[in-house]
Amino acid sequence: MALADEIKSQLENLESEINTRLENATEDAQLEEIRVSFLGKKGNLTAILKGLGKVEAKERSELGKIANQLKSSFEEKLQNKEDLLKKQYYSALAESEWYDVTCPPSPLTIKPLPVEWGHIHPISQMQSELEDIFTSMGFSIQDGPQVETDYYNFGALNFTDDHPAREMQDTFYTTTRNLLRTHTSAVQVRSMLKMKAPMKIIVPGRVFRYEEIDASHEHTFYQMEGMIIDREVSISNLLYLMRTLLKEVFKNEVEVRLRPGYFPFVEPGFELDIQCIICGGGGCRVCKKSGWLEVLPCGLVHPNVIRAGGLDPSEWQGAAFGLGLNRLVMMRHSIEDIRHFQDSNPAFLKQF
Ligand code: FA5
Repeated sequence: MALADEIKSQLENLESEINTRLENATEDAQLEEIRVSFLGKKGNLTAILKGLGKVEAKERSELGKIANQLKSSFEEKLQNKEDLLKKQYYSALAESEWYDVTCPPSPLTIKPLPVEWGHIHPISQMQSELEDIFTSMGFSIQDGPQVETDYYNFGALNFTDDHPAREMQDTFYTTTRNLLRTHTSAVQVRSMLKMKAPMKIIVPGRVFRYEEIDASHEHTFYQMEGMIIDREVSISNLLYLMRTLLKEVFKNEVEVRLRPGYFPFVEPGFELDIQCIICGGGGCRVCKKSGWLEVLPCGLVHPNVIRAGGLDPSEWQGAAFGLGLNRLVMMRHSIEDIRHFQDSNPAFLKQF
């Protein structure tokens, strides 16, 4: 057979081989193999294209045309097959990953976590219990910034610039007029301005003092402020609130004492102390040998503070307290050192 005829028949065979192999291919990797076997450096079609030079000139152009048509139809079929495989792959994926967005969620099962998984810190436990008690009595929960202005922390609370009471609380100043709030009372005037009167709020939060650390003093600790503003507020309202609070926290009776206390933002002011549960009142390092621990200072809101809150003190009265959460938790669980709360020791935390 003449060379030209032989090449023609080879091209016909290649075409049917291409069709069969492409038809049978099921994966991308097979397509690449097929491409290489026909059009790679040593591919069958490449070899024919290279060999055309040996064919007589008058037959070469016709054969060249047939070979090039085969080449471009091969490339086109290859591309079509690749597209088809891709389409099949994605539609199979979509079938297997189908979601019913209208399907109701399965019911939540809440199981207690194993102790070693971590759990709620005793101060957070106390905080959320108190939040429940107060919100059930109609109080709302408020918050304010921890980096506070000197005004809301002191000025608005009736501390004059040279007031000696400013010395009562050693303060971390961040700038001359900004500081880390030393008490949650900083949120009193912010809340009055925001909520107007009457109002009943609690403010749980973190506070900071430049303090010498010991068994009952931390530099970073937690308080919970409580405040009522209404047309008639008396000391008996205040005492009722504090009695409710202590009953809920301790469940049974605890010895308390009320004594006069001085804070520029209340008049009159009181200190409510709890008999030290660690030593039973006998005296220890937690209560500094006094047998009592300050936990709940309180008082009737000073008229100047009512005024700073944008209210008329001849019309509105208030009562407030500032609970020391760390110390209350210490009394509840007989914890002998306040530093345990912040040292993240799992052996300590596991107990609650
Ligand atoms: C105040 O902070 C007032 N703002 C409380 C107040 C609010 C009075 C409303 C009147 C009306 P005091 O500095 O005493 O007060 O702190 C309140 C409580 O925070 C204390 O009774 C104590 O339980 C706790 N506390 C104070 N300093 C520390 C400290 N360094 N570490 C741990 N707890 C502390």
